[in-house]
Amino acid sequence: MKIAKKLLVVLVVFAFIASMFAMAGCDAKSGKVKIGVAMPTQSLQRWNQDGEYLKKELEAAGYEVDLQYANNEVATQVTQIEGMITGGCDVLVIASIDGSSLGTQLDSAKKEKIPVIAYDRLLMNSDAVTCYATFDNYAVGKMQGEFIESALGLKDGKGPFNMEMFAGSPDDNNATLFFQGAIDVLQKYIDSGKLNVVSGQTDFATIAIMSWKTETAQARMDDLLTKYYADGTKLDVVLSPNDSVAIGIANALDNSGDFTVGTNWPIVTGQDCDTPNMKNIIAGKQSMSIFKDTRTLAKEVLTITKALGEGKTPVTNATYNNNKIDVPSFNCVILFADVNNYEKVLIDSGYYTADQLK
Ligand code: BGC
Repeated sequence: MKIAKKLLVVLVVFAFIASMFAMAGCDAKSGKVKIGVAMPTQSLQRWNQDGEYLKKELEAAGYEVDLQYANNEVATQVTQIEGMITGGCDVLVIASIDGSSLGTQLDSAKKEKIPVIAYDRLLMNSDAVTCYATFDNYAVGKMQGEFIESALGLKDGKGPFNMEMFAGSPDDNNATLFFQGAIDVLQKYIDSGKLNVVSGQTDFATIAIMSWKTETAQARMDDLLTKYYADGTKLDVVLSPNDSVAIGIANALDNSGDFTVGTNWPIVTGQDCDTPNMKNIIAGKQSMSIFKDTRTLAKEVLTITKALGEGKTPVTNATYNNNKIDVPSFNCVILFADVNNYEKVLIDSGYYTADQLK
């Protein structure tokens, strides 16, 4: 048994070193190690920042970077990743559109001994994922749930309150984790009747917004308002998983003409601290967001890439199971942001200038 274990360790180490050998290969033209960075879309602020910071960090460390955005189209991302593999990338950093749709490409990367770093979103159902750099996704949802709990005084027995819920894109593993974190806090209040979901729509599949689209979220909120709140029923809170969905919710509340900030505007949660959302927070149309400092995530990817290049095991602080393997992962820290602390969290930290939030 002991010998078998030792043999397994030797094999694993050997496989690891072999994959490093591949990574040490340099681009023929530039002589630099080339990193393929596949990003989902430029339509949301955060992915532009992610791409920009990653490119900056990696290039400053001497790597060549092939950064590509896929317009939220899975087929485009597939083609881009195939191109990165045949184009001689030594490492792949992938923020997937659909975490389960890249199996063939990940298999090819593995065959070519190219390490794959899943970026922000877990790559599912594959044993070709070397590492995962992300934020604590469950904690994001928990923070949103706890914000609602505290803002409404639910722990003190206050209520009942009326709530509607939204979740993120069903093809993104993060969306499930955000929802799980929030519902683990809120479910007991739903069960006790202190939180009343007037529409009755609480299951993930019904409340999920494909591709995190603002327009889809807005259409669903329009629909909920027309069907369940047009008679004057009070709406106290809307759980939104992120900022692109929160904008859709705020647009629908605005367009209905039935909600006024400071009077009956509901609590609306969010995530990402995108600039339009921070402006909404300042204007009272969103209650909170979660700051995921993409500069930290870019630095983490650099640290992982360097470790891989040096043949070391990257330092990790978490593990995520992708239905195939436990992926060694690094959770970066998340921060709560609202109207009271946004200057400290976002401006003093140099993430935004004051002008960007005016
Ligand atoms: C990210 C969120 C982002 C969402 C939509 C998720 O995978 O973790 O930060 O808001 O995608 O782009």
